[in-house]
Amino acid sequence: MEKICKYTSKQMDENGYISWSDEENKIWAALIKQQLECIKGKACDEFIEGLDKLNLPLDRIPQLGDVSKVLKENTGWSCEAVPSLISFDRFFKLLANKKFPVATFIRTKDDFDYLTEPDIFHEIFGHCGMLTNKAFAAYTQKFGQIGLEASKEDRVYLARLYWFTVEFGLITQNDELKIYGGGILSSPKETQHIYNNQSKIYDLNVLDVFRTPYRIDIIQPIYHAINGIDDLFDISNMDLISLLEQARQLGLYEASYPPKIKKAS
Ligand SMILES: [Fe+2]
Repeated sequence: MEKICKYTSKQMDENGYISWSDEENKIWAALIKQQLECIKGKACDEFIEGLDKLNLPLDRIPQLGDVSKVLKENTGWSCEAVPSLISFDRFFKLLANKKFPVATFIRTKDDFDYLTEPDIFHEIFGHCGMLTNKAFAAYTQKFGQIGLEASKEDRVYLARLYWFTVEFGLITQNDELKIYGGGILSSPKETQHIYNNQSKIYDLNVLDVFRTPYRIDIIQPIYHAINGIDDLFDISNMDLISLLEQARQLGLYEASYPPKIKKAS
């Protein structure tokens, strides 16, 4: 079943430029102002270093070419403008080729705190800082390469690993819990939530991650923390497909959240 997104990505002109409205630029300005304040002392060192390098504008949505220039200089990555939702095939292929998919729309005020569809604020502010880091960038590329070769069934397991690292990953740094996951860092609510002691935080174990179900539309009840950014290098060198096979044999852990209630149509 195809998922439907209520947002539509904007088209680039022939120079790769996207024209954003004042209203859209204001949403970016409000989001980045709030989030820069919110992540103080919470985002990991690598993310803060990445933000310094990106030097994102505070008053308007950045152009992808400007972000790509910084990524290219640091890790050889670039941003690729995509529609609001893309296939797994295209997603993995882009990552394998060091291209980070960026849906070119921005949330409306109604979705200010969190939306399930990744918008340009989530993609640029949430992820691109980390993509200037060599370990994170290598991990993400390897993930794309493995995903590209994987079966449809195996990709479901790989998606859990992506979710609990790139999207909702935590890291222990100088004995403190810090955030590197873009799903958290682009969400004011979830950034605060990490420090409310309301969720379980485990040391990341890949086999456990493969066995942990998640929901994309709630604040996460479970997080998995790495002990240093180089742990991502180690994960990308593991035999993920055989770990995934073990996870399949052992079965999924019971969900720690209530089932999603389907709306009557
Ligand atoms: Fe994301």
